Amino acid sequence: MALLRALLSSMLLVSFFISLTEAREFLVGGKTNAWKIPSSESESLNKWAEASRFQVGDSLVWNYDPSKDSLLQVSKKDYDSCNTSSPIAVYKDGNTKVKLDRSGPFYFISGTQGNCEKGLKLVTVVLSGRRKFFNVSPAPSPVEFEGPAMAPTSDGTSLRGGFMAIFGVLIRLVLSEMLM
Ligand SMILES: *[C@@H]1O[C@H](CO)[C@@H](O)[C@H](O)[C@H]1NC(C)=O
Repeated sequence: MALLRALLSSMLLVSFFISLTEAREFLVGGKTNAWKIPSSESESLNKWAEASRFQVGDSLVWNYDPSKDSLLQVSKKDYDSCNTSSPIAVYKDGNTKVKLDRSGPFYFISGTQGNCEKGLKLVTVVLSGRRKFFNVSPAPSPVEFEGPAMAPTSDGTSLRGGFMAIFGVLIRLVLSEMLM
């Protein structure tokens, strides 16, 4: 039993560090040249962002034609009003990578006059790693291990979910063994 516990504890540790160090890159909009005026509400980049889970250390990557557009990181106020006059950061190289180095919201708008008003804007909310790390309940069903949840995906979300599921089960195992 002591051996089992040691084994479980080390697996726990390994999955913990994997989940901590795994930084991912998200191609904004999920494809190249997605930084353009959305043709409809459902095409908006914020729809894409809502479906993604960003964590501290992840990066966003933009591809766009630098002769036609640029990217501004702005405050919430300037995001809401599409004000391009005082950005936090300006990117115009056509292949921009921004590291999400803290939790909370990041606001981006197009640097081209008029584009933001037409919907070319993006807000991403970065989850605090710690809160998510401890948020292992409710109990994951065993089906998740064999299902597509473990398959590597382009954005890594499911893979991380798989680690979290394993982690939840390990905690339960170790706890129940300690109580015996
Ligand atoms: C944009 O922001 C600047 C600086 O914060 C401000 O002076 C200006 O009035 C704003 N423009 C509009 C149209 O709100």
